[in-house]
Amino acid sequence: TLPSSVRLVEVGPRDGLQNEQARVPTHLKLAFIQRLVEAGCANIEATSFVSPRWVPQMADHREIMQGVERRPGVVYSALTPNLKGLEAAIECGVEEVAVFGAASEAFSHKNINCSIAESLERFEPVVARARQAGLRVRGYVSCVLGCPYEGEVEPLQVARVAKALYQMGCYEVSLGDTIGTGTPSKAKRMLAAVAAQVPVNNLAAHFHDTYGQALANLYAVLEEGVSVIDSSVAGLGGCPYAKGASGNVASEDVVYMLEGLGIASGINLNALARTGDWITQAINAPNRSRAGSALMAA
Ligand code: HMG
Ligand code: MG
Repeated sequence: TLPSSVRLVEVGPRDGLQNEQARVPTHLKLAFIQRLVEAGCANIEATSFVSPRWVPQMADHREIMQGVERRPGVVYSALTPNLKGLEAAIECGVEEVAVFGAASEAFSHKNINCSIAESLERFEPVVARARQAGLRVRGYVSCVLGCPYEGEVEPLQVARVAKALYQMGCYEVSLGDTIGTGTPSKAKRMLAAVAAQVPVNNLAAHFHDTYGQALANLYAVLEEGVSVIDSSVAGLGGCPYAKGASGNVASEDVVYMLEGLGIASGINLNALARTGDWITQAINAPNRSRAGSALMAA
């Protein structure tokens, strides 16, 4: 059965922008975040405290976290791969952080320069310190339905990494189809393996739309009890360490589907569509949301 409401995590400002070659000015990112808030987004992944040499686009993480307008009910989160990133995030008043691992060894090396086991060891003190500072911590698992370097990824391997993150103290584990190769039955099989180790209420779906399967895959896991979805307005994004990966599923498309299913998300679809249209024009990127483009043309 489908959930009656879904919590949307808007990852456009982070996952959406991290892959843009041209530097997006900080003031534009802040205006983008503000528009998302006005459209009703209550969970926004705003930036990442990663090495600027690895991801130059996120080099302004301090200015972003210090520049966002704090509002009751709106949570801004940031990626923190290590203690250095976490301490900087804490200084900037972040309320929620995320550590990010992978279900594939090759991707782990390319993305965070260490093995899966090393990453879990590294995350342990990050999660402990974050929780001690009163922050909520999310855990990501990338490549849950395929890896750009290794191909097929075993559901049991995804479950092992998800369980480790959950046991470490992550309140939620977000399952990333980083390269968007999944299909619905595959997504269900993967979810079943993970849900045997982590309660389904503590899982989120983070699907990319490279092969046009993201909405179908989301519907498949909604049926199995997932009620948290990561998405990116206008389908912005891609991962710098996953060649050819297009953006996350577009937030507008997700909200349009949810509305049709009678599932509440708290988001104003028209305002979201205008935001997607505005940001893609501002950074000269294609608007990959079908619903967003249709609404703007209507
Ligand atoms: P490393 O080179 O192994 O780390 O990188 P290091 O500790 O040796 O540090 C190297 C340099 O980076 C040093 O600078 C550090 O100070 C600096 P130097 O002394 O040489 O000038 N550094 C930092 N600077 C700022 N903030 C920090 C930080 N840490 C080190 N936190 C590291 C390891 C993890 C840092 C690096 O690999 C990295 O930053 N990786 C991030 C990659 C990334 O952001 N990928 C995209 C996000 S993941 C994703 O998109 C997938 C997801 O969306 C889910 C999905 O779609 O499936 C989440
Ligand atoms: Mg992603």
